[in-house]
Parts: sequence; C-alpha cells; structure tokens
Amino acid sequence: MTPAAPHPPMLPSSYAWLDDILCCEGHSLEDLAQQFGTPLYVYSATAIAEAYQSFAKACTALEADVSILFAVKANPNLSLLSELGKLGAGFDIVSMGEMQRVLAAGGSAAKMVFSGVGKTDEELRAALQARVGCINLESLSELRRLNQLAQGLGCKAPVSIRINPDIDAKTHPYISTGLRSNKFGLSLDQALIGYQEAAALPHLQVMGVDCHIGSQITELSPFLDAADRVLEFVDRLAEKGISIHHLDLGGGLGICYRDESPPSPAMLMEALIGKVRAWSKARGRPMPRLIFEFGRALVGAAGVLLSRVVALKPQPNDQTGAAHFAIIDAAMNDLMRPSLYEAWHEILVVNRRDQQTEERRWDVVGPVCESGDWLGRDRPLRLKEGGLVILASAGAYGASMASNYNSRPRPAEVLVQAGQPVRLIRRRESFEDLVAAESVGLSLGPS
Ligand code: LLP
Repeated sequence: MTPAAPHPPMLPSSYAWLDDILCCEGHSLEDLAQQFGTPLYVYSATAIAEAYQSFAKACTALEADVSILFAVKANPNLSLLSELGKLGAGFDIVSMGEMQRVLAAGGSAAKMVFSGVGKTDEELRAALQARVGCINLESLSELRRLNQLAQGLGCKAPVSIRINPDIDAKTHPYISTGLRSNKFGLSLDQALIGYQEAAALPHLQVMGVDCHIGSQITELSPFLDAADRVLEFVDRLAEKGISIHHLDLGGGLGICYRDESPPSPAMLMEALIGKVRAWSKARGRPMPRLIFEFGRALVGAAGVLLSRVVALKPQPNDQTGAAHFAIIDAAMNDLMRPSLYEAWHEILVVNRRDQQTEERRWDVVGPVCESGDWLGRDRPLRLKEGGLVILASAGAYGASMASNYNSRPRPAEVLVQAGQPVRLIRRRESFEDLVAAESVGLSLGPS
C-alpha cells in the first residue's frame, strides 16, 4: 500500500481526497465540475465558520469587547455576507456598492464601518442615511465635507480618523497601506489636528481611532508596533481632552499560500488584546472596545478555483529549458493575483488517479491573450488534458477581483456544506450579462 500523501498545509481540513478524488465537505469536485462547469469557485461553509469562530472564541476566552468585521472587498458574494452576518460578523465597507450588498444580505448598518481613501459626497450621504456605525476619515477635507453633509441631513456623523503609523507590514508593496509613502490615512501630527477639529465641529461625533497597515501580514511584530503607535496617539488625544470609545486595528492577518506560517487568530487576538488591556490598566481607564476588519483570514483558505486542463503544450525538446505550457480554462481575469502580485496559489490535481501520467514542470496559464496571463510557473505536476486542477487559497480576492477581460464570463460560485445540497451562489455569466449595460449606438463609419 502506498502511504497516504500528507494533507497540503494550505488546504483546510474540509478538503480531502476520498477514493483519490478531491472533495469539499464530502462533495466530489469532479461532480461539481460536471454539474456547474468550470472555471468554478468552490467555498467550504465549514472552513469559513471555523475561521470566524477561531477569532470569536479567542475574544470570548479573553473576555474582551471585540467586534469582528468582515472586509467585504475580500469576497462580496451575498450568500457569504449572509453566512458571516449570521455568525455574528459586522462589515468593513469601502464603497456604496459594498454597503448596498451588506444591506441586501441582511447585514446591519450599525455593525458597518466605512473605510476608504476617496469617498464621494453621494457615498457619505448614503452612509449617513443608512446610519452606518462609523465612518473612517482619511483626510482633513473629507472630515470637513462630512460635517457639512451631516449638517444638511440634520444628523451627527460617527467618525474615526485613520492614522498612518508609518509601519512596514513586510508584505507585497501593492498591499502595504501603513507606510508614509502609501496614500492611506493621516500622519499622527495631521490626525491630531483632525481630531481637534472634529471634536469642535457640531455634526461630527468622535468614536474611535482607526488604523490598517496592510494585507497578508505573516508576522506578529508589525501588528504590535502599529498598536503601540495607536495607543501612544490615544494618549496624545487624552492630553487634548479627547476621549475615544473604540480602537479599530484593521485587518491584514495573512494565510498560508505555500509555506508561510502566520500567527493563528488566537495568537494575534491574545497579543493585541493583552497589549491594550495592559495599557488601559496602567492608565486606570476602562478598556476601549476593539474592532478588527479581517478579509483574507476569514475566507481565503475556504475557497478554491476549480479548472479544467484545456490543452498541454510540452516543448518537444526538454534540453532547451523552455517552458512546457499547460493551458487551463481559468485565466488572469478569473484569478488576478498571480499576474498582479506574482502571488503563489498552490495547484493541485483533483483526481489522484490522473497521477499515472509523467511528471513535468509546467507553466500553468490561461487562454487570455497576454503573456502575463499565468496562474503558476514551473510547477511539477502530472497533468492530462481534460483533467481537473484546483488553485488553492482563492476564497479571498479571487472572485472579487475577477473581470470580463477578453469577454470571458466570470465564473460561477458554489457554497458547499457537508450533508447539504450544494448551493449555487452565483451563476455563471451569460453573453447577455456581458453586454447588458451596452447599446449599439451610432455607426462610426461614413454614412
Ligand atoms: N481594512 C482595510 C481598510 C483594508 O484596506 C483591507 C484590505 C482590509 C481591512 C482587509 O485586509 P485583509 O484582512 O483581507 O488582509 N487584493 C489584495 C489585497 C488587498 C487588500 C486591501 N485592503 C490581494 O489579493 O492580496
């Protein structure tokens, strides 16, 4: 008997090979491909619930008043928002569209915070009308604009200012947000001016301090350094007679894509809650409420992109060193992360019986007309045409960043739970969907 292959570290335990076929919560991915077609996003409901619970349980054990928000940008599918809302999550939104999605999914406006560096008047007004729990301000001009808009609506806007702590999150430069060179937030000195102004303005209600330093952070130290800066800043606010009710410490906890070992949710919660608790005790102040905005850590590992091998294009001569190409039916428009950040998504063969074929090092690419359209490079795999593969850890920033480039309909999405019928939570787009917002206008040619 051949020994069982070890479980890949990036796959949650709800994915497993049963009789050589990769299954999600007992549902065969071959059957899902057959029923729903490919490319297909598959999400494990249990993995999402477990990820949420790992944060929530840690906070309960630490007896801390904590709100876990889901950063909608990571995956805005209505069913996932609804599931996360039922588990108790609030929501971090960055646009009116995201707000409308949360409301459509039954989420509460009071449990939303509105982040974002360029909110328009229309978006701010809509947030005030919906009574969003807190608006995180990112510039002095936005602060003044919001005061005026709230005056127009005869209300007081609950606000925090996002501070930019100038901390290196040690992540990909495109997803670092807490450095002075990033466009986000206000420097500590500017934020201090902002808070004094906000406290004096009649239509703003200072609620908290906000900070988010980046995404896919795999070490504890940047979180702790940022929290130190936030707490020092709250001391400066107190000196000016400004008190706050909550600290929003952002999101950013990384997941394992390849071999990373980020801190567990419990470790992160213990470290941050412990720090804030010690700080509060030392000052004889009550512990502020803590807010977190996690996206990737809640849904990233739970989702995979299921895709079929369309064609194999090996180089006739292995000696040239040129790549062998495996062309699959998923592409950069379906999962943008490899093209955009050179991100690694593990590629795994669904049917282990396919493993009889010869192993080769493949460049796994999509059908889009760009050489940048690749999903994995130089991967040792045993592939066959018509076989299925998954791109692992695709639950966050996969479907949400998909586009229609090359007039490709975006993939369908299914939510899977053991013992339950599989739920189609987004049908595959049709040609009619692709052109629904367009019209055939005047002819451009000579009449
Ligand atoms: N809060 C704010 C204000 C954010 O800007 C973000 C992410 C989050 C929360 C959630 O961060 P998370 O817990 O998911 O790391 N498209 C990139 C990620 C961009 C993240 C931007 N901001 C990727 O695919 O890696």
